[in-house]
Amino acid sequence: MGHLCFSFMIGTNFFFLLFTLSFAVDSISPSQSIRDGTTLVSKGGSFELGFFSPGSSENRYLGIWYKNIPVRTVVWVANRCNPINDSSGILMINSTGHLVLLGQNKSVVWWISSAKHAPSATVELLDSGNLVLRDAGTYLWQSFDNPSDTLLPGMKMGWDLRTGIKRSLSAWKNSEDPCPGDFTYGIEMERDTYPEAYVRKGTAKYYRTGPWNGLRFSGSPELRPNPLYSFDFVYNDDEVYYMYNLQNKSVISRIVLNQTTSTRDRFTWIEADQTWKAYSSVPRDLCDNYGLCGANGKCIIDENPVCQCLKGFEPVSQEKWNLMDWSLGCVRNKPLSCQERYKDGFVKFVGLKLPDTTHSWVNKSMNLKECRTKCLNNCSCMAYTSSDIRGGGTGCAIWLGDLIDIRQFPAAGQDQYIRMSASELESGGKVKTALIIAVSVAVVFSVVLLVGYYFHRNRRKLKEIGETNMNNEGEPEEDLELPLFDLPTVASATDNFSSDNKLGEGGFGPVYRGTLPDGQEIAVKRLSRSSGQGLNEFKNEVILIAKLQHRNLVKLLGCCAQGEEKMLIYEYMPNRSLDSFIFDSVRGELLLDWPKRFHIICGVARGLLYLHQDSRLRIIHRDLKASNVLLDNEMNPKISDFGLARTLIGGDQSGGNTNRVVGTYGYMAPEYAVDGLFSVKSDVFSFGILVLEVISGRKNRGFYHPNHSHNLIGHAWRLWIQGRPLELIDTCLESSCTLSEVLRCIHVSLLCVQHHPEDRPSMASVVIMLGSEIALAQPKQPGFFIEKESHEVGSSSGNQTSSTNEISITLLEGR
Ligand SMILES: *[C@@H]1O[C@H](CO)[C@@H](O)[C@H](O)[C@H]1NC(C)=O
Ligand SMILES: *[C@@H]1O[C@H](CO)[C@@H](O)[C@H](O)[C@H]1NC(C)=O
Ligand SMILES: *[C@@H]1O[C@H](CO)[C@@H](O)[C@H](O)[C@H]1NC(C)=O
Ligand SMILES: *[C@@H]1O[C@H](CO)[C@@H](O)[C@H](O)[C@H]1NC(C)=O
Ligand SMILES: *[C@@H]1O[C@H](CO)[C@@H](O)[C@H](O)[C@H]1NC(C)=O
Ligand SMILES: *[C@@H]1O[C@H](CO)[C@@H](O)[C@H](O)[C@H]1NC(C)=O
Ligand SMILES: *[C@@H]1O[C@H](CO)[C@@H](O)[C@H](O)[C@H]1NC(C)=O
Repeated sequence: MGHLCFSFMIGTNFFFLLFTLSFAVDSISPSQSIRDGTTLVSKGGSFELGFFSPGSSENRYLGIWYKNIPVRTVVWVANRCNPINDSSGILMINSTGHLVLLGQNKSVVWWISSAKHAPSATVELLDSGNLVLRDAGTYLWQSFDNPSDTLLPGMKMGWDLRTGIKRSLSAWKNSEDPCPGDFTYGIEMERDTYPEAYVRKGTAKYYRTGPWNGLRFSGSPELRPNPLYSFDFVYNDDEVYYMYNLQNKSVISRIVLNQTTSTRDRFTWIEADQTWKAYSSVPRDLCDNYGLCGANGKCIIDENPVCQCLKGFEPVSQEKWNLMDWSLGCVRNKPLSCQERYKDGFVKFVGLKLPDTTHSWVNKSMNLKECRTKCLNNCSCMAYTSSDIRGGGTGCAIWLGDLIDIRQFPAAGQDQYIRMSASELESGGKVKTALIIAVSVAVVFSVVLLVGYYFHRNRRKLKEIGETNMNNEGEPEEDLELPLFDLPTVASATDNFSSDNKLGEGGFGPVYRGTLPDGQEIAVKRLSRSSGQGLNEFKNEVILIAKLQHRNLVKLLGCCAQGEEKMLIYEYMPNRSLDSFIFDSVRGELLLDWPKRFHIICGVARGLLYLHQDSRLRIIHRDLKASNVLLDNEMNPKISDFGLARTLIGGDQSGGNTNRVVGTYGYMAPEYAVDGLFSVKSDVFSFGILVLEVISGRKNRGFYHPNHSHNLIGHAWRLWIQGRPLELIDTCLESSCTLSEVLRCIHVSLLCVQHHPEDRPSMASVVIMLGSEIALAQPKQPGFFIEKESHEVGSSSGNQTSSTNEISITLLEGR
């Protein structure tokens, strides 16, 4: 013991500057220093401060990382844009009490000054990860006031209104360069506005949390008491900030901003796997994209399209709105008049993420009635609500001008009262009167029971017209019972699976048309008998798949499982599949002009996005192709066969590696066809092919051109780089084309068929790219650009029966 103390003293007194510290030291005092190679370790051993080089860069930075996990995770960097290019870095307090970081030739690369002269100040790394410059009991400076890209537990994100200190996060430029990129996250407010946090890309708003409503951020319904962390938002005359703390100090969790992925993520360290696991991430979905639906629009993720005008408003341009360009937003059906303002009223909307609060005003002591009066008196006030929803609601927030970036949550969200002119309210009122008359008539002419029924019904209608209750728009998902059809019923519906009723044959088995005794037409997919899956497993899986409901997915009506037989019963699509149109120039020209094709492309994109992102199961289709896109009688596209890979192979198919390849040559992404690696990005590849086929009317597989041996991708790429992309267009389409749309579709499809999955956009981006005019990245040379000899790749499925459909390769065992 004595020896240890002695050598430590010697060490600190004499050799401090010469040797790497072998003792865990958590602070340095004036005249001491930290050199490159030595570190400070916080008292409890949680964090370490020292010099590091990010990724493969050789630059040296001073930073703080977790001491107790093996994956170096830097949470703070001092000299973010001012690297030292060799190991000459020294951190020290100089004689005037400044904390300085010296680089080559003793030049100052980073420094902080303490407000007052404090020659006895020390620097200490606390166990929270906070690096502080302290003079006796007070902190002269702390790293928690100057965050990098990470919000640690106990750190405040927000403003100190007394000192003017603003604490916000900024992402690293990339994983090799900690210099701030343009992706930032922080609380924003002006005097008297309703504060909220924004993620920005450059100066543009990218994502909004929604204002704090006393319980959570209005746009973060998932922010609720949980076992991982507690959270708090403080908003008073001194401070405005958000902070969280971990419930269990031995759990490690952080919030980080990532420029590359443009996301704000919360990660939790999983000790057993020795990795960081993403706990949550925003933007979560399409509706989180700032201002997607334009002014006075609202975004509903379960709807299709996702944007709608608020009730009482209509699109500025119906034409653009129909093409899913929502950027112009919506205007009032009946304009407001300032002179008439006292006649205006308010309509209550429920379940909302409150609009952008940049032009808002808040008073925490007013009540809702005073709030209404305040809003009514001011012509530019468009909406009001309680600023704090706890205990029935207190305070007042009003919005001036257009209402931007509203979304609707089916179950969470909050109320807002939106201003309407008297005439708008009246047009609802007239209908009300009519209904009341109807009710009276019913009262007179009906038996008591009937009266009760009408009254009930009409009261509901009245309510819908007066105060639109938008809470119940979500599909009831929980109590879905999947009908089980028995074999005799299905057999008789399909005339004993007669060949006359056979619609086609895919890799999963033949499909028959049938008619149920009640006249409903169905399509029956009789699955091949090879799956070897148990009956219950099959049913459970089918029930899950049946819950996937979207306008652009074929509806699963039920299943039939008896003995060896397994069948899926779908709604019948009278117009069959897309391939029967696009590859047939006569039918294609007559029935599928460009606007219809564009509608189909966008619909397939949205259906796929739903599978990937918005449904609960996160399904990878794995066999998207023209013959799997069915058309209803209005030529709306519906994706079929989704979830079949999952049903037949079983288990979680959200991504990974498989030795059973399910898919169709000509549509498969290189990494999937070659290595069996699949992910949402392999579906994106197939989508890209599909779009090229829809535009060109040619099949990717078996494509022939007299001048070169490329496949359709290669052909499209050749034309693209030669600046002649429009030559790709199917001649039968030429008269109906909107060239800018076609060009955009070609551009997007080339991005989708990029060789590397990471170069391909997500379906969420694809939907946005198709629906707007944002600038697109230049595609690089795509993957699978020259087709291999077709007999080489085709042999494994060569013995399938011929059919009009492309042939799927089902359960092909890899090596
Ligand atoms: C390191 O940086 C200094 C000053 O910026 C420069 O003069 C020097 O050449 C650089 N050394 C190397 C090895 O890049
Ligand atoms: C200490 O560092 C600060 C910041 O670089 C500088 O302004 C000050 O002159 C330095 N003091 C001494 C004594 O070198
Ligand atoms: C280092 O500093 C000395 C003296 O100030 C100067 O002469 C020399 O050029 C500097 N070297 C570099 C590489 O900056
Ligand atoms: C951002 O995310 C990407 C992909 O997950 C990852 O490779 C990269 O290291 C992250 N960047 C930073 C600065 O953490
Ligand atoms: C905290 O987490 C650790 C590790 O996961 C666990 O062993 C411990 O029981 C937890 N403590 C409490 C109070 O939950
Ligand atoms: C907020 O409302 C209260 C109560 O109506 C009022 O006394 C106070 O002056 C208001 N504050 C501001 C800044 O208008
Ligand atoms: C409406 O209220 C806002 C916020 O209090 C104020 O800035 C604006 O001047 C008011 N406008 C009118 C016309 O009173």
